[in-house]
Amino acid sequence: MELSLTHGKPELAESDILAVAVADPARLLSAARRVDAALAGRLTHLAEDGELKGATRRLTVIHTLGDLPAHRVAVAGVGKEDELDADCLRTAAARVAGFATGLRGGTIAWALEPELPLSLVQQAQAIVDGTVLGAYDPGRWKTTDRDKTPLERLVLVGEDVEAAAEVAHRAAVIAQWTNAARDLVNAPPNELTPAGLAKKADEIAARFPALRIEALDRAGIEDAGMGAFAAVARGSVQEPRLIVLTYQPERAAAEPVLGLVGKAITFDAGGLSLKPAARLDAMKDDMAGGAAALCGLAAIAELGLPVRALAVVPACENMPGGASYRPGDILTSLSGKTIEITNTDAEGRLLLADALTFARQRGATHLLDLATLTGGMTVALGDFYAGLMGNERTWTESIRAAAEASGDHAWVLPLHRTYRRLYRSTYADVKNSSDLRQASPVYAAMFLEEFAGEGPWAHLDIAGTAYLDRTRGDYFTGQGATGYGVRLIAELASRMG
Ligand code: BES
Ligand code: MN
Ligand code: ZN
Repeated sequence: MELSLTHGKPELAESDILAVAVADPARLLSAARRVDAALAGRLTHLAEDGELKGATRRLTVIHTLGDLPAHRVAVAGVGKEDELDADCLRTAAARVAGFATGLRGGTIAWALEPELPLSLVQQAQAIVDGTVLGAYDPGRWKTTDRDKTPLERLVLVGEDVEAAAEVAHRAAVIAQWTNAARDLVNAPPNELTPAGLAKKADEIAARFPALRIEALDRAGIEDAGMGAFAAVARGSVQEPRLIVLTYQPERAAAEPVLGLVGKAITFDAGGLSLKPAARLDAMKDDMAGGAAALCGLAAIAELGLPVRALAVVPACENMPGGASYRPGDILTSLSGKTIEITNTDAEGRLLLADALTFARQRGATHLLDLATLTGGMTVALGDFYAGLMGNERTWTESIRAAAEASGDHAWVLPLHRTYRRLYRSTYADVKNSSDLRQASPVYAAMFLEEFAGEGPWAHLDIAGTAYLDRTRGDYFTGQGATGYGVRLIAELASRMG
């Protein structure tokens, strides 16, 4: 999608679709009023007759038949004015983008709106983000009846729009990498195997000279001493990979070094502690943390952010098989700590334990891991907020702030030493699950904390937010991957560099 900015009056913009905002209850904002005047009051009539409404996701489209340079005007609801935030504008933009992709190659001109309680820069970011995410097509594997065609062009129109140019272009880069992560997560597990994911990481690395890639195979993982990761990987004939992507910008201080660690179980059947069959297909999403780490780092590289960073992504399947690890096994992790296995379906924390140790060995000073780690996370906060937990207040807070600014929302959950009794083992240093079905997101986070080494570490449990069974009613317009974490990582790294 081509992106440009035009200083001027919205009613003069040329495009297939001119998009303007309307608030709920139907109140035409300034750009809509200018268009209304050029259309002899037709929008006012529609509003008075109750056909034009301002709720989010409402869209009223009329053809201009030559009265304006634009072929159509799309009046997009942005919701109630006292509730209005960037997400409302993203949702409106996604609605317009969805409509445009149905038209086959529509170009959109979006009028920035001085009457909204968001700065023009905030609006530009939200509109670009919502447009790119809203134009996303999850049906890549269809051979006929594709629902969407790619968007050709988005033009932001308004007075002094130039001030928003840089933010708008950054938003486009970040949203495109978010869609790339969605593609990885939506990809079927027969195609996106651990080796398949490593190949995608190769392709990312090849695009940016500041990126360097390494990948360890099964023998490499075992020889390196990653006894926890290697054990999970043993249940599958698919070769595991430890994917390491390092970003070394030309101008950056030696520290901090941002270490992104992402869980990449390309399919989670549960191992010998087999999961029930219902909705098992969704367990292809169990590599969403890894996708976010890789695509987040790609966005950092494309933006050329001046901060050192690396992504460590342990990728394997969790399958039952003759060579599978067993409940009762005791594993020695890369850190040297021993782990008693009580449930092979609590596999994510095992790979992450080794990957966190590895990331510290590679010099990460500030760790952030992302993982679809616990079903309890979805029970607790559903599909909107990810759970954020960490060992150091300032670092956790900087992630929370970046999350809220980026659209990838996160809420802080508590850690406390009293929960440690949940993972105490009779035989080994720790055990990987407990019979008590208590506080499972906190349990898992505190288990990871044991392996997070010295220095700030934080964990995002994205089990609820990475993949939607149905639309949330916002700019994610249907089922499937959200790319959660890419926008957050890009925002966080921007604030660090
Ligand atoms: N990948 C799952 C968590 C998950 C569940 C993510 C549902 C998305 C949707 C994870 O590996 C898992 O199986 N967790 C178990 C751990 C339990 C066995 C201690 C869980 O949370 O039920
Ligand atoms: Mn599992
Ligand atoms: Zn899992």
